[in-house]
Amino acid sequence: MSKSGDLARLIQDRAGAEPPRYGLILGSGLSHLADQVDGVAIDYADLPGFPHAGVSGHTPKLVIGQLSGTRVAVFGGRSHYYESGRADAMRLPLEVLTDLGAEALVATNAAGSLRADMPTGSLMLLTDHINFSGLNPLIGEPSDRRFVPMGDAYDPGLRAKLRASAEATSVDLHEGVYAWYSGPSFETPAEIRAIRTLGADAVGMSTVPEVILARFLGLKAAAISTITNMAAGLSDEAISHDHTKAMAPLGAAKLSSVLTDFLG
Ligand code: HPA
Repeated sequence: MSKSGDLARLIQDRAGAEPPRYGLILGSGLSHLADQVDGVAIDYADLPGFPHAGVSGHTPKLVIGQLSGTRVAVFGGRSHYYESGRADAMRLPLEVLTDLGAEALVATNAAGSLRADMPTGSLMLLTDHINFSGLNPLIGEPSDRRFVPMGDAYDPGLRAKLRASAEATSVDLHEGVYAWYSGPSFETPAEIRAIRTLGADAVGMSTVPEVILARFLGLKAAAISTITNMAAGLSDEAISHDHTKAMAPLGAAKLSSVLTDFLG
């Protein structure tokens, strides 16, 4: 049995064998969604090999149970490349999600906006990404499965369903391209001008490696950003991790509405 298979069995022993339909990864300041799950919470510390996920604003717990009538596996915290220097930091949790029988990953994150019409508090559904870091979680993967097509990485069916849920709950859901910047320092204004020219609408320090891994593992993927600030140089707004955590709740309530409808 593989390591992920062993962990999946351990999780099933505690939370039951019914497969979760979706895995949800919660971004900075969005952990409260995990509290809404009616199910079993397991600390990452009890899941050997799970990442430390030590960034403040994240809760390192896996919660498996019902959210709005659908069985989900909620990852209350993620590990970022900048914590360990490993772009594949979320590989084991996503392998476990696959072994549990999930069909899709829905990732959430906090991000900076590059668009004046998408201010702090907005939500953006990812249509695509730009891997500005140049890193890849599949470097070193020996099998030919590493050559993952990324044409429709952000699943059109899931995107349509999320758009419909936003409409049903009267939430303004922007759409755009997310650029992954490694962090942990924020971007410079010149870097933001560069990625705006390249076609990015939002910028953040996560999600892209997880979506690459999800597609590698055969999971469908979707992702939503909560905009916590205008990106560097685009406004006088402060940019800091404290600011990200303070602003995340502005979008989080809308995100809860959309996800609740999506799952319902
Ligand atoms: N840049 C990168 N990551 C972020 C930002 C940002 O402006 N805001 C929240 N996460």
